[in-house]
Amino acid sequence: MKVEYNEEKKLFHLYNKHLSYVIGILRNGHLGHFYLGKRLYGPLSEDLFRRDQGRAAMPYVYEGDMGFSLNLERQEYPSYGTTDFRSPAIDIIQKKGSRIVDFKYDLHRIIQGKPPLEGLPSTRVSNTKDAMTLEIDLVDMVLDLKLTLCYTVFPDLPVVARSVRLENMGLETFNIDRIMSLSIDLFDDNWEWTQLSGDWARERYLRSVALRPGIQSIGSLRGASSAQHNPFVMLKRPETREESGEAIGISLVYSGNFLLQGEVNSDGVTRLISGINPEGFSWNLKSKEVFQTPEAIIAYSGNGIGPLSRTFHDLFHLYLIPEKWQKSPRPVLINNWEATYFNFNEEKILSLAKSAKSLGIELFVLDDGWFGSRNNDTQGLGDWFVNTKKLPGGIAGIAEKIESMGMKFGLWIEPEMVNKDTEFFKCHPDWLIGDPKRTYSHQRNQYVLDFSRKEVVDAIFDQLTKVLDDVPISYIKWDMNRNITEPFSSSLTAEKQGELFHRYILGVYNLYERLINRYPDILFESCASGGGRFDPGLLYYAPQTWTSDNTDAIERLKIQYGTSMVYPISSMGSHVSAVPNHQVLREAPLKIRGDVAYFGTFGYELDLTILSEEEMSEIRKQVEFFKEYRSLIHHGSFYRLLSPFENSGNETAWMVVSKDRSEAIVGWYQILANANRGLFKLKLTGLDSKKMYQISDHKEPISGSILMDFGILMNPAHTGLDLDNSYGGDYQSRIWTIKAV
Ligand code: DGJ
Repeated sequence: MKVEYNEEKKLFHLYNKHLSYVIGILRNGHLGHFYLGKRLYGPLSEDLFRRDQGRAAMPYVYEGDMGFSLNLERQEYPSYGTTDFRSPAIDIIQKKGSRIVDFKYDLHRIIQGKPPLEGLPSTRVSNTKDAMTLEIDLVDMVLDLKLTLCYTVFPDLPVVARSVRLENMGLETFNIDRIMSLSIDLFDDNWEWTQLSGDWARERYLRSVALRPGIQSIGSLRGASSAQHNPFVMLKRPETREESGEAIGISLVYSGNFLLQGEVNSDGVTRLISGINPEGFSWNLKSKEVFQTPEAIIAYSGNGIGPLSRTFHDLFHLYLIPEKWQKSPRPVLINNWEATYFNFNEEKILSLAKSAKSLGIELFVLDDGWFGSRNNDTQGLGDWFVNTKKLPGGIAGIAEKIESMGMKFGLWIEPEMVNKDTEFFKCHPDWLIGDPKRTYSHQRNQYVLDFSRKEVVDAIFDQLTKVLDDVPISYIKWDMNRNITEPFSSSLTAEKQGELFHRYILGVYNLYERLINRYPDILFESCASGGGRFDPGLLYYAPQTWTSDNTDAIERLKIQYGTSMVYPISSMGSHVSAVPNHQVLREAPLKIRGDVAYFGTFGYELDLTILSEEEMSEIRKQVEFFKEYRSLIHHGSFYRLLSPFENSGNETAWMVVSKDRSEAIVGWYQILANANRGLFKLKLTGLDSKKMYQISDHKEPISGSILMDFGILMNPAHTGLDLDNSYGGDYQSRIWTIKAV
């Protein structure tokens, strides 16, 4: 891993053994993007990457010089109003109304390690040897503005983490209308754009389209990264597959309004930009103030989509989530939500916990309904004190009883929200987001607290610490069940209203930071009506996220498969729930419900006290099995084998291989049975072709080469009534465990 600057050639080369990233200082002092891809060797010079072009019908920068136009340059951080007419990365409105800026190279620093971003989550290293950072200062001399572009490379991963800082060194106040975290101009447009889109209960489905001239984008204006579009996009070549071909991914480490945009110009150059969504955003930057953008990660793979995903998985696991949770095992949990909803008392909770304990479950999570007058979703949010009618001994009482059974205790909160019928709202009716002269829309009967205000975050922090201090709590599920409408803050001046959405998310991050500092051993799981805020910003604090409110195993195949494009399976909350399933009323066998949930954090969310002996015994075996393989599942490398988004979508398969390739676990799932099907096979990936492996349902060891190049041979379903046929019937699944011998 290295960052080199060639003074004579005016080139920066950031590289490690997998990747090169080359930036040049163009002759007008702006930065040119020269290369992102496989590691380059040999001398580099500008001439290898760009040429002056004298083209007709083109504006040029210098008088008498028909060679240099920004419209023809691939750039690192383009601005508005230049000879480049594409979407800019930055747009600043000045006092006199002008938006013209001219940021020229001034200085740079190469730093061992990675400085944190003020107030924002970002990738981090505990040892400065694990990263190198390049900071390039660009200055607009007329405006006295300094723009610092930051780039970090890590030793073993083909990624660059980018962010931007703008410092007002002069006396004038500016309005930042747009300030992207990343901009990059790729050489061509022969790419397919893949995004993760959906909605509540069907989050992060894979969608791909070919790039076309003009602008294509995804984003959020909801105040959360959203279930509709995830802050991730992948470009892949048309011929790219799971384990072959080029792919580039961008992931924004941010949980609020975002934009990810691709723009193809008439020469087929593709500009990707990513950052805070400029729609509705503006930031008032006074003299001596600094604005810090969120971080964006750009990753490259020359060997397919699989390695690109594994790069993000490793990056998030090693350099984003809290260090403690990189190694500590994630507990198998029981969550009472789908078992009881709001209707519980201490007796019910303890009987659920007792059953869970007898099955080997390690953590009891008390979900919504324990506080204030929360007996349904019209009441209670904001009154973060226990409902003693339900839990006479308080949170301390129930937590201690559960701990004394030998289980850990966890609690649900939704700190950003309030119901009107609460003591909290009566004391602070003016703390909502919204315009007091207009209607406040609701979602799930709740309203959004103005987390851009410090006093609001402080008040919630104080209430929560009263509940959490001195109580044995090991886990918190932080939920968020609505998006922001009528974005207006009574505490911000007119020129600062455009800051509300970003300030809100900074308030959320601030509360996370304070809670984590106070309770460093608590495991946080983030949630937003399921996966409505599944993003790297929150992974920085909460290493796991409730993937979706949809707990049906068949539906989860697409949701978990799509999510795995960028997020590690150790971050995906996955529970076995009851049948008929509460979201789709499907009756999938307990086996497939377990087999799908294994590939996540794993837990249960159903009333264990009403299950049959047979079901209890199957669950006991599932828990035992998961505990045996959890370290492999959470620390190994994830490989996708069959996609639920391709062919008929009837089959899905994936596997996890330990980093040393000595162990693996494979999951195969089939939705509907096939009549009279011939022999079929499942090709594995990621093993060592030279090793011999013992596979769970075979007598003799099989070589990695046969498992990967031929595959596991599978018996088809027979026609006729054959109740013993293990591949017959709908909703089938198989798990194989594999060990090198
Ligand atoms: C939405 C979450 O996604 C559910 O898991 C549950 O916690 C409910 N909220 C509780 O209101």
